[in-house]
Amino acid sequence: MTQGATVRAYRGAILHFKRDPATVADASHAYEYFADGLLLVRDGKVERVGEAAQLLPALPAGTSVIDYRDRLLLPGFVDVHVHYPQTDIIASYGEQLLDWLERYAFPAEQRFADTQHAGEVAAFFLDELLRNGTTTACAFATIHPESVDALFAAAQRRSMRLIAGKVMMDRNAPAYLRDSAESSHRDSEALIRAWHGRARLAYAVTPRFAPTSTVEQLERAGQLYADHPGVYMHSHLAENRAEVAWVSELFPESRSYLDVYERFNLLGARSVYAHCLHLDDADRARMADTGSTMAFCPTSNLFLGSGLFDLDAAYRHGARVGIGTDVGGGTSFSMLRTLSEAYKVVALAGQRLAPLRAFYLATLGGAAALDLDRDIGNFESGKEADFIAIDLHATPLLARRMERCESLAEQLFALMMLGDDRAIARTHLLGECVYARA
Ligand code: GUN
Ligand code: ZN
Repeated sequence: MTQGATVRAYRGAILHFKRDPATVADASHAYEYFADGLLLVRDGKVERVGEAAQLLPALPAGTSVIDYRDRLLLPGFVDVHVHYPQTDIIASYGEQLLDWLERYAFPAEQRFADTQHAGEVAAFFLDELLRNGTTTACAFATIHPESVDALFAAAQRRSMRLIAGKVMMDRNAPAYLRDSAESSHRDSEALIRAWHGRARLAYAVTPRFAPTSTVEQLERAGQLYADHPGVYMHSHLAENRAEVAWVSELFPESRSYLDVYERFNLLGARSVYAHCLHLDDADRARMADTGSTMAFCPTSNLFLGSGLFDLDAAYRHGARVGIGTDVGGGTSFSMLRTLSEAYKVVALAGQRLAPLRAFYLATLGGAAALDLDRDIGNFESGKEADFIAIDLHATPLLARRMERCESLAEQLFALMMLGDDRAIARTHLLGECVYARA
């Protein structure tokens, strides 16, 4: 053993995915499951995973074995779309998207001019993610550069993987929340220099959505995305019918809403678009061909009355899909609750979200959607050891339903339909326990 290396072993039921179960004839080839498994972590990275009976005898003498035998160990959840400044307006009554932005989101975001407020909300937000088993997120901040500083600083203190960016918004928003094409370019570039690639952090160029950016600002966004390889592009696309109609008025020369973004070179393997509800097949094909990600945000789409994501159509076209909570349009930080709503959304279209595929999407699928599957998403050797310990008996009802389960898939389905933050017993980042349920 290297001098000073920290090696720990975690013993429990272990599940992780190797590939998307929807893309293999036999779903059992997509994952590994060890009913009595061992996860070996060295200096924050996965060293090995396998059967406890095989790995225990070979452990270096003195290795501490943490007993999670009554838990299910999973890679941490990945939330591909969320707004940290909207934490305080989650569950705000009565509006669809455009009025909801005016009435709730914009006033809440105005408060992030105050760096103390930003720091306080950032800390709560990240702790809430960890409490829900989410170890990586792709997040909106506000137009204020200090709101990004606050979030990245808080993530760095927790050694958390995070993608975030300053909102760019130079029209169709209240004066108190507008930047300019020039200032948004300058501020974004300074934030990229300050934060991108530092610790586990990455920057996302973040024009809010097409209606709140001028042509000049969208051009600047395209320049930033092109000039800084490795940075992300994060925005909203085709969420609400009134929004889609507005975009076609504002950009009459574009074939579709997606085409607006494509004209400004904003599609690509690190582009993440929330919602993608009102697309046609030509749009879906462009999303797939460019490697762009669709963030499926079911609690938000139901809450704001926006529409139903067509998961089968996304898969048919080979588009990348991740799951987002979209708090505060979304109504829960819990990926389990989000998967439950995803199941119901696709059921309304006569489709099925199989439980193995659901947990793939929440872990390795989310990592791939964020182009992070080299670093996180499963327990392959060398990956960062972000993982959670799930209590399948967290509530009386879950415990009772588990007793009747006859397969792993059935257990996972009960977990995603009945589980929430109460089922997250522990959350680990780079091997370290950062949350333990009381
Ligand atoms: N479209 C533009 N801004 C937003 C936002 O803050 N939330 C949601 N759900 N959609 C948006
Ligand atoms: Zn959003």
